Amino acid sequence: MTQVCSIIIVMNKDIIIASKNIGKIKEFKEMLEPLGYTVFSLLDYPEIGEIEETGKTFIENAIIKASTVSKKLNMICISDDSGLEISAFDGAPGIYSSRWLGEYTPYDLKMNYVIYKLENKEDRRCSYVCAIAVCDKDKVLMTFEEYCEGIVSRELKGNNGFGYDPFFYYEPYQKTIAELSSEVKNEISHRGKAIKKLLEWLENENI
Ligand code: IMP
Repeated sequence: MTQVCSIIIVMNKDIIIASKNIGKIKEFKEMLEPLGYTVFSLLDYPEIGEIEETGKTFIENAIIKASTVSKKLNMICISDDSGLEISAFDGAPGIYSSRWLGEYTPYDLKMNYVIYKLENKEDRRCSYVCAIAVCDKDKVLMTFEEYCEGIVSRELKGNNGFGYDPFFYYEPYQKTIAELSSEVKNEISHRGKAIKKLLEWLENENI
């Protein structure tokens, strides 16, 4: 069954990403479309509605999203679950990153709150995590997890990217992620690295 579905994707090169996050979808498209894949997302399937992320880890949530959508659309589906971990907050917000401090609270406020809380703290380390799951209904075909390490800057800088990028300082380039071009972000980011692993896997599987 898996093989049959794989062949459908080989021929169409269609990929469904179980996400409504415009920033994330843009990054998937930037990396996959130049290679001939057509990327669809939950924005193309409003009838699927909300998927409750009840997992306790990024991988569990990625699997829940990918397998739910795979069952509804009857084809292989890819999902990413990602987030920010702040060392001084024992890894919070983690899997709750998008809803943390209120789903509709502007990111500027969330980031300034963190900067304020870390004002006198020495440990400013943070990390982005990205888990990707590929599911064929209830069958998990593959999972990947990748990271990007940074530190929480003392001020917000840059307009690129999305979410927490303006305060995520990437030391090797001495810039926040929001100051990097999307090409550079996709090279070094948690999601970029996970998508590269996904692409290698797709190629090996001949998908
Ligand atoms: P998800 O849609 O449940 O995977 O939540 C991902 C959330 O993690 C986003 O809404 C952001 O809050 C945060 N996040 C994940 N990746 C990034 C990134 O590349 N830049 C900025 N924020 C990110």
